[in-house]
Amino acid sequence: MQQERLLKVLVVGDLGVGKTSIIKRYVHQVFSQHYRATIGVDFALKVLNWDHRTVIRLQLWDIAGQERYGNMTRVYYREAVGALVVFDMTRASTFQAVLKWKKDLDSKVALGNGRPLPAVLLANKCDQQRHGLCSKLPKLDNFSRDHGFVGWYETSAKDNTNIEAAIMCLVQNIMAID
Ligand code: GTP
Ligand code: MG
Repeated sequence: MQQERLLKVLVVGDLGVGKTSIIKRYVHQVFSQHYRATIGVDFALKVLNWDHRTVIRLQLWDIAGQERYGNMTRVYYREAVGALVVFDMTRASTFQAVLKWKKDLDSKVALGNGRPLPAVLLANKCDQQRHGLCSKLPKLDNFSRDHGFVGWYETSAKDNTNIEAAIMCLVQNIMAID
């Protein structure tokens, strides 16, 4: 018999780190250089044929970076089962914000069993390696473990690097829970 699972996944991170671009790349296979800030929250759906008896409806909640300063995240986070936390490899301030986002998640939402949501860390815009933080990135193995991420990836929405891998890592972790 076929079973269908609806998974609500949050995509968070500071302004302009590439959350919308990552989702558009993953769901629609497109990329645009043009920046239009998300207002509030946006949604996208991807249907995955997970195995011979499971179809996953992956609901991606694209939370505007500016929402970190608002009071709506608690509402947006409700019923979520996983998160992608994104920063921009070319801007250190967005890396510093990663822990603020993780804290915001862990203080406002949890799994049914009280455990924190599985979260994957994305170091986005890795096509711009020559700028920014790349020399510090080997440390992310420890950083991601120490702060409770289930994994981390260098990604590029522009070049389509590791987007699929990062999201698969998260879905695998979610599906392993029950
Ligand atoms: P908010 O909605 O304001 O929170 O921003 P966001 O995180 O959704 O960022 P968005 O996806 O809109 O991308 C911001 C800018 O970065 C856009 O100009 C994108 O084209 C650019 N961008 C996103 N991902 C990448 C990437 O992997 N590489 C490069 N070079 N640029 C990227
Ligand atoms: Mg956006």
